[in-house]
Amino acid sequence: MTTKKRVLTGITTSGTPHLGNYVGAVRPTVRASKLADVDSYYFLADYHALIKTGDPLRVQRSTQEIAATWIACGLDPEQVTFYRQSDIPEIPELTWFLTCITGKGLLNRAHAYKAAVDKNTAAGEDTDTGVTAGLFMYPVLMAADILMFNAHEVPVGRDQIQHIEMARDMASSFNHLYGEHFTLPEALVEEHVATLPGLDGRKMSKSYDNTIPLFVPESQLRKLIMGIVTDSRAPGETKDTEGSALFQLYQAFASAEETAALAQAYAEGIGWGEVKDKLFARLNQEIAPMRERYDELMKRPADIEDILLAGARKARAISGPFTQRVRHAVGIRALSDLSVGQDSDKKKTRSAMPTFKQYREKDGLFYFKLTTASGDLVLHSTGFSDPKEAAGHIRDLKTLGSTALAAMSEKVTLDTSEENVSATLAIFSEEE
Ligand code: TRP
Repeated sequence: MTTKKRVLTGITTSGTPHLGNYVGAVRPTVRASKLADVDSYYFLADYHALIKTGDPLRVQRSTQEIAATWIACGLDPEQVTFYRQSDIPEIPELTWFLTCITGKGLLNRAHAYKAAVDKNTAAGEDTDTGVTAGLFMYPVLMAADILMFNAHEVPVGRDQIQHIEMARDMASSFNHLYGEHFTLPEALVEEHVATLPGLDGRKMSKSYDNTIPLFVPESQLRKLIMGIVTDSRAPGETKDTEGSALFQLYQAFASAEETAALAQAYAEGIGWGEVKDKLFARLNQEIAPMRERYDELMKRPADIEDILLAGARKARAISGPFTQRVRHAVGIRALSDLSVGQDSDKKKTRSAMPTFKQYREKDGLFYFKLTTASGDLVLHSTGFSDPKEAAGHIRDLKTLGSTALAAMSEKVTLDTSEENVSATLAIFSEEE
């Protein structure tokens, strides 16, 4: 096994890549993949796409478009492992293993599921109306993607951080029960990658229908840019760079000097039409060579298919043997395999539970602490005047695991490593 840092990320194949995807994900990821000290895994999350759409042609088309986009933007399939999720049959298998150690309560808290429930509640509907079990299980499938390759870092958008934390929780639970098999992944959120505004000035997003597709023909790119909203200031009037969608888009593509020059032009009253011309020219300068490669690739789907299958072979060289190890760990193994003693001596049974204790000190305040099954102190709290508050924190820690810790960082002190704390907390969600 290599000692390089393993970086993994997936893209759901339910749409057409737009400028926001390019600036926020594709461009930084392709750059990072060229660093010598990383081992990168990029995949097309087509199983995830089925949660979002029931349109087979859209899934197929999007898979082709996204694969062609990544290659056209410079991803080198020789250097990285680039594959399609559904070509790795071990992923759904691992999803099931993780399903069996994941507290249902943990999944109840997932943002995407909660948002759906809240929407139903607000509309006076039944909580789970229109919610598929696929949406509910989304974080588990995603954890399987990540844990299968023991990724250290997962570059994602802010909205996905919770999913990475859940993957950590699942890895801890599994490791606690079956021994150390999974690396605990970290989310990597690029702080200075701008979220791009769309045609209407709101965040560029498919759900707002305000996107600029990355690889539209040049004439259409120009037309879309001409349609971006501006305020009504006339040429000659000073313009605000703050809140100007055109400016933000330009900045995402231009050098610092070019951006400063445009800011100067805003101050001097450049007309919006001229800003749009500049923006189109700057965008097209970067996009045109990639568009040419993209158009070529899109004409040769069989070649893209070959690239993906070669990637899958590379990926399965890891996922195949690793899944054998995980199967063995959970007890799915040949009956003639007598290496059972290996893990039975760990005595990690579900009945050995850590405990929370709530108590009152001489100062009249209420405290709580968590100890492992063998009595080691894991964490302790500050004093609360209201015992219900202490109890509430305990409940959150039990149901949410280490995800709850961040919100109460000032109220609890960890007495052991963060990993031990996560692993200990994870046992509760597993028990539910
Ligand atoms: N859920 C991610 C998204 O919508 C896509 C995804 C699926 C993913 N599996 C993943 C991202 C594993 C990172 C790692 O953006």
